[in-house]
Amino acid sequence: MEKMVTKLRTARFLGFALTLGVAWAHGQTPGPSPEKKSGDVFKNLKVLNDTPSDLLLPSMQFITSSLGVHCEYCHVENAFAKDDKKPKQTAREMMRMVEEINRTKFQGKQEVTCYSCHRGSPKPLTVPVIADATPRLASSSVSDNPRDVANQPSSHDVLSKYITARGGASALGSLTNLEERGTFESDSRRFPVELYLTKSGQSATTIHLNGTDRISAFEGTTGWIVIPGRPIRVMSSAEMDAARLDAAFQFGLDLNTIFPEIRFKEFSKLSTAKSVVLSGQRPGLPPVEMYFDITSGLVLRSVYYSTSTLGLNPIQTDYSDYRRVGAVKVPFHWTSSTPTGRFSVQITTVRVNVSIPKEVFSKPRGE
Ligand code: HEC
Ligand code: HEC
Repeated sequence: MEKMVTKLRTARFLGFALTLGVAWAHGQTPGPSPEKKSGDVFKNLKVLNDTPSDLLLPSMQFITSSLGVHCEYCHVENAFAKDDKKPKQTAREMMRMVEEINRTKFQGKQEVTCYSCHRGSPKPLTVPVIADATPRLASSSVSDNPRDVANQPSSHDVLSKYITARGGASALGSLTNLEERGTFESDSRRFPVELYLTKSGQSATTIHLNGTDRISAFEGTTGWIVIPGRPIRVMSSAEMDAARLDAAFQFGLDLNTIFPEIRFKEFSKLSTAKSVVLSGQRPGLPPVEMYFDITSGLVLRSVYYSTSTLGLNPIQTDYSDYRRVGAVKVPFHWTSSTPTGRFSVQITTVRVNVSIPKEVFSKPRGE
């Protein structure tokens, strides 16, 4: 079971990203929050002390993705404060170096991150790679090149085609909740899963692992995560935001109400389907990219970025197998991927507008 817990650490389930195993949770120390500084929550910080404490683990996730390593590459297992491993000490120097480069060369903007050099490897390359195909070289400044914007569709048209494809505004409007059952798959292991979602943004997910349950519950303003063998923990603001967005894509909610501004980004090809990529903008938050199938009008992919002190963590969800449930179309399959892991959900049965007991969304009983 412990092995499974480790695997699930980096998995994300319906927006419940970064379900990381963390040391502080075992003591009586209060957990991280946006108000508290990292230095007040964690034991042995020398660089990230003044950063918001709820961004410390997302920052660790960012490092892990940027270098393509496990936490244990730098940390003694379950003793994150220890400095025994050389790479952890090097990483501190690197954090200072990156901060200095951005401050002195890029007006304090986060232009250089760990990923700029590391590109998914602990050892950055120093010699250019020879590509398999004939390379295409640029002859003018990339920022001077006009973007391919011929026949650029209006985001309004793309969104109304999407609503029509999902069953139309009035059918979607009468959908108030969803009860979904199916299979959760991660690393070729499968477990039964059930999900409850309401249009007002509550959600609850239970994955039945062998004998124990992994539960996430979000009642609209607070959320909780129960991972077997670990104390119950409160969801971070990024996890709650992702949960709300996931519900929006499940319900086909009016994306204009979520994003004050939606811009055309580019055309893109996902496997065989040509798609239009729109970028949803919200003040003070990273954009959300949405890929709409040009033919069917349905959302094929969303890419969400969550903030950390060291850079953005991308989370991609690919939706497929849209099936008709009553008058609306609902995605029956999705795969959620981050640079370090992925899982999929295949739904088999969906019931709509059922009566869901309120307790489903409230704080689950921990261990
Ligand atoms: C490339 C090295 C590296 C990797 C990989 C890494 N960390 Fe860290 N981690 C650090 C460094 C360096 C610090 C100390 C930062 C400082 O001094 O401000 C740290 C600090 C921490 C702390 C605070 C410990 C304390 O109480 O002082 C926690 C918790 C932590 N990391 C968790 C993780 C988790 C979980 C992962 C895997 C997702 C991870 N780290 C991956 C380098 C790493
Ligand atoms: C400007 C380029 C650059 C950036 C940006 C950068 N690194 Fe590095 N990093 C390097 C180089 C080059 C090495 C290899 C040095 C060597 O082999 O001796 C390295 C080595 C390391 C190592 C040691 C790996 C090992 O096991 O030998 C760690 C850990 C590391 N970097 C972490 C980070 C982290 C964390 C960040 C972001 C905060 C970061 N680096 C940003 C260039 C960079």
